[in-house]
Amino acid sequence: MKLYIGIDLGTSAVKLLLVDEKGTIRKEVSREYPLIFPHPGWSEQRCEDWWEAVREAVPELLRGFDPADVAGIGAGGQMHGLVILDEQDRVIRPAILWNDGRTGEETAYLNEEIGRQKLSQLTANIAFAGFTAPKILWVRRHEPENFARIAKIMLPKDYINYCLTGVHSCDFSDASGMLLLDVEHKRWSKEMLEICGVSKAQMPGLYESWQVIGTLRPEIAEELGLPETVKVVAGAGDNAAAAVGTGIVGEGGCNISLGTSGTVFISSERFGVDPNNALHAFAHADGGWHLMGCMLSAASCNKWLCEDILKTGDYAGEQADIREEDLGKNHVFFLPYLMGERSPINDVNARGTFTGITMDSSRKDLVQAVLEGVAFAIRDSFEVARSLGLDIPRSRICGGGSKSPLWRKIFANVLGIPLDTVKTEQGPGYGGAMLAMVGDGLFESVKDAADSLVEVGGTTEPDPALTARYEEQYRKFSRIYPALKSVFPKIL
Ligand code: XUL
Repeated sequence: MKLYIGIDLGTSAVKLLLVDEKGTIRKEVSREYPLIFPHPGWSEQRCEDWWEAVREAVPELLRGFDPADVAGIGAGGQMHGLVILDEQDRVIRPAILWNDGRTGEETAYLNEEIGRQKLSQLTANIAFAGFTAPKILWVRRHEPENFARIAKIMLPKDYINYCLTGVHSCDFSDASGMLLLDVEHKRWSKEMLEICGVSKAQMPGLYESWQVIGTLRPEIAEELGLPETVKVVAGAGDNAAAAVGTGIVGEGGCNISLGTSGTVFISSERFGVDPNNALHAFAHADGGWHLMGCMLSAASCNKWLCEDILKTGDYAGEQADIREEDLGKNHVFFLPYLMGERSPINDVNARGTFTGITMDSSRKDLVQAVLEGVAFAIRDSFEVARSLGLDIPRSRICGGGSKSPLWRKIFANVLGIPLDTVKTEQGPGYGGAMLAMVGDGLFESVKDAADSLVEVGGTTEPDPALTARYEEQYRKFSRIYPALKSVFPKIL
């Protein structure tokens, strides 16, 4: 039976899946790598660490299987990260990641001097600090010697694809987040490249996510123990890959990803732009498009509280004392802006806060406030989607945070909709494997693959009484950021 490798190049770790042609996950392997914060609000990773992790993980993944059965590899990767290579394809500097907030000035220049309207006409989006174009401007201004050496610009999973095949590629879903792509027509925007001072020759080739970019370099095939014939597809940004993995393709479905970031992903067959550009308008990995809201710190807020502050890895233990009757009544509120925030407030200066603490507030209340604050912040992006007239009667949910039944219950009630989990809950990695299957000709389209392979595993229904309580809590939460907005820049 043929086998496919799905890669999820995440922010804290790379996760690899071995999936057979029936869609069954046969094995999973993951490798962590460090996240570097050179200054508060900055976030970097070494591209070499990603590749080392993949190189180590593949042979372990294959142990116990016949590598000759492997037919394809597909990756979903953290989006927007700036990877720059020199003439010899050497990495010039560490990648500047999607949750890096250093480009406040460059973002303001793009939005205010080039102008939001022009950016939106050219790319369907405005500038956000985490997007790739402002980072290119930052390198041009602050590291001119590095800027002068740039021969190729790419995104994180494209670097892995390059290491595997020697081909410089990018798919449309991930390229959308660079602010260099004309998203509607799926081609590099000449004007945006000019604004950033880069040429088309410095950009990778563009592909649909399921298209084969090449096969393995002979020396890499030998090192990894794989046949040279293994096809590598272009892959996708992790959110588009996760949507494929949860079956959110074609028209109108919604997926929430509760990972390091938190995203709301609304799939569409047609190109469409949010007139206020609060939601991103990007290409999808199925050949269509999507609208997306992205909060920068989601499950990472809970990780931060448990691991860094409470010094425990027992997340379930921390949540065990939160009873059904405690929900929707917390006096403590948490703003989850630990890395500033993208959607919908677009504020690099925003910071995390606990508000409403009293002498009787407990550890449990703070844990609950964090889970609720993340759900309220996702609700903010839902409200934007609803204000555009989009009907979201239910959603799928994936990512590490979605494994907590309590957090799913909080989300279902804060949003007031049923939330479905799928049986193969490994979003981006599973989506990557599915794209590889399509590239190998096992399915005619990404939609066919999703129809055949993805099944709902369970549903968390909202409860009307609890939804009503959370409605009131959400109104209270919504007053906190506007009250503090002007304070944040003064306390940096
Ligand atoms: C999406 C975004 C994040 C990263 C996380 O715009 O920035 O979801 O892709 O890996």
